[in-house]
Amino acid sequence: MQSVIPEFSLFTSHFSLLAAFSYLRAFFAKSLMLFQIKSYLKFLWKSKNEHGVHSPFVFNLVTKCFYDRKPEPEYAILKNYRNSLLENKNTIEVTDFGAGSKVFKSNTRQIAQIAKTAGITPKRAELLFRIVNYFQPESILEIGTSLGLATSALALGSRSLGTKAKIITLEGCPETANQCQLQLQKFNINNVELIITEFLEYFKTQNLEPKTQDLIYFDGNHSKTATLDYFELLLPTITNDSVWIFDDIHWSSAMEEAWEIIKTHPKVTVTIDTFQWGLVFFRREQPKEHFVIRV
Ligand SMILES: C[S@@+](CC[C@H](N)C(=O)[O-])C[C@H]1O[C@@H](n2cnc3c(N)ncnc32)[C@H](O)[C@@H]1O
Repeated sequence: MQSVIPEFSLFTSHFSLLAAFSYLRAFFAKSLMLFQIKSYLKFLWKSKNEHGVHSPFVFNLVTKCFYDRKPEPEYAILKNYRNSLLENKNTIEVTDFGAGSKVFKSNTRQIAQIAKTAGITPKRAELLFRIVNYFQPESILEIGTSLGLATSALALGSRSLGTKAKIITLEGCPETANQCQLQLQKFNINNVELIITEFLEYFKTQNLEPKTQDLIYFDGNHSKTATLDYFELLLPTITNDSVWIFDDIHWSSAMEEAWEIIKTHPKVTVTIDTFQWGLVFFRREQPKEHFVIRV
């Protein structure tokens, strides 16, 4: 029914649009949450611990790295790095990267809020530290820096070995990158090269050949297309010992599809699904096998 007052009609149409928008947002958030719960239950059903893992390579990784509960002095540094961000109430203008890597908006956000929502969890940061420690990569690439919660784990994991890996981390948002740089300096983490760039733009300028990166942490654009694009683009860099870690493989049905495609790629031999992460190995001596491990 049309209103006789034009302004009121405009107001009601705006209002109903807003209401429809927030309804749809709540609906999608709820269905995404339901999807993730279902996906986690499936993971619990299929997953195992080290028992029943017959591959010595995976058994050793699980027992000596994933389940290594020894406290490490660097864990305190990781905790302080996080806490100092969580206490930072300053705001920055964040440039958001949407699906398909199109920059779609800029908005003001508190550093503490970004640290709380966008980064790796404390447990995962410790695990990332141990993975770097375990494999001892000489070169590391992180796709998606944010405030450096994972970067610090990568850097400390390699620093604790005495031989510092060369770490490159990519971030498209200049103000976020600037904050990360300040934070890395504050904690004396100086084996990181932070590059402000859109991911694909960076890859276009690189000579992607074997051994350019030993370990890659994919934590940027969590869409199926972007994940598969980065996977294909970086394949020329692999060696027999490359370690690739994909974050959020069960975040959405599209990400699960991407993960299934990665698993079936002929160059991929071993994969490990830890729910949050998918680890990918290209070791030619291993038979193709997919593990689902509780961490
Ligand atoms: C999930 S956060 C990274 C979190 C970080 N690895 C950690 O654990 O603390 C992803 C970051 O990637 C950046 N990003 C997303 N898509 C991008 C793109 N196409 N190019 C450049 N940066 C992008 C975002 O600005 C964001 O800071």
